[in-house]
Amino acid sequence: MVIQTIAVIGAGTMGNGIAQVCATSGYPVVMADIAQAQLDRGLKTINGSLDRMLNKEKISAADKAAALARISATTDMQAIKDCDLVIEAATENIDLKLKIFAQLDAVAKPSAIIASNTSSISITRLAAATKRPSQVIGMHFFNPVPVMTLVEVIGGLQTSEETREAVKAAVARLGKAAVNVRNAPGFVVNRLLCPMLNEACFVFGEGLATAKEIDEAMKLGCNHPIGPLALCDMVGLDVVLAVMDVLYDSYKDPKYRPAPLLVEMVEAGHLGRKAGRGFYTYS
Ligand code: 3HC
Repeated sequence: MVIQTIAVIGAGTMGNGIAQVCATSGYPVVMADIAQAQLDRGLKTINGSLDRMLNKEKISAADKAAALARISATTDMQAIKDCDLVIEAATENIDLKLKIFAQLDAVAKPSAIIASNTSSISITRLAAATKRPSQVIGMHFFNPVPVMTLVEVIGGLQTSEETREAVKAAVARLGKAAVNVRNAPGFVVNRLLCPMLNEACFVFGEGLATAKEIDEAMKLGCNHPIGPLALCDMVGLDVVLAVMDVLYDSYKDPKYRPAPLLVEMVEAGHLGRKAGRGFYTYS
């Protein structure tokens, strides 16, 4: 099947980024969320991100207008019923995602592929919430979506080759590179990245250096574009914790235990950029 129309479920950090990239690549996009306020924030973010590309002369004013015109934002889930590909990018919570998947399965047309941008939840488990497990797949984008070129394409136990190929063709049209991954906790990138971010929380919590010094050390010592604590803030501390919880619960290996400070900061609501406060403060 050739994917021609896309729906994105969730207008948060990842959802609006995915909707933006789909729209700039020429796909008509339905961006759906339960909250109108979240849709408004998502559209505002997309507008700002397109302005940034416009200022850097990566797109023209006409490209920007055309991309915005391709996005229809809605709180009505029925609006996704004609889309060929539905990308779920809701909050990283298993019960919520299982509920959304059952709902999407009921609304989406029978031929539609349902993908999840989950950073840690089993694709096989999400697929089991639907009557079309062969058409369920993981499409794991990276933050900030308009800039990061990778999409992990994750097949669950029952994902068909046809589904994988159709999704990989769409990823190519988005101008991104697909890496094939088998379903497993954390997939590839988060299995490697999140333990490093978690360790940075331990290092900070133990008072080895200030947040700025820890970040500076990894930038200058390892050529990372931003330091691990700034990256925690960018990704969201709740997301990092969710990945660590999944790794720890799945493998029962103490090397994946979440740093106490990470847990406490999430409890305090210091989730990073999106909350205005994490390891750093944001205005
Ligand atoms: N929309 C469009 N363009 C954007 C953008 C946005 N939202 N944000 C940044 N850009 C563009 C800029 O225009 C600029 O383009 P140019 O190189 O052509 O001039 C380029 O990106 C770099 O931006 P800046 O110069 O403003 O800022 P930096 O040099 O600090 O780079 C960064 C920003 C690219 C985000 C860099 O800090 C980086 O690479 N950080 C690491 C990001 C990363 O590791 N992400 C993965 C997180 S893990 C994840 O998401 C998985 C999840 O499941 C946990």
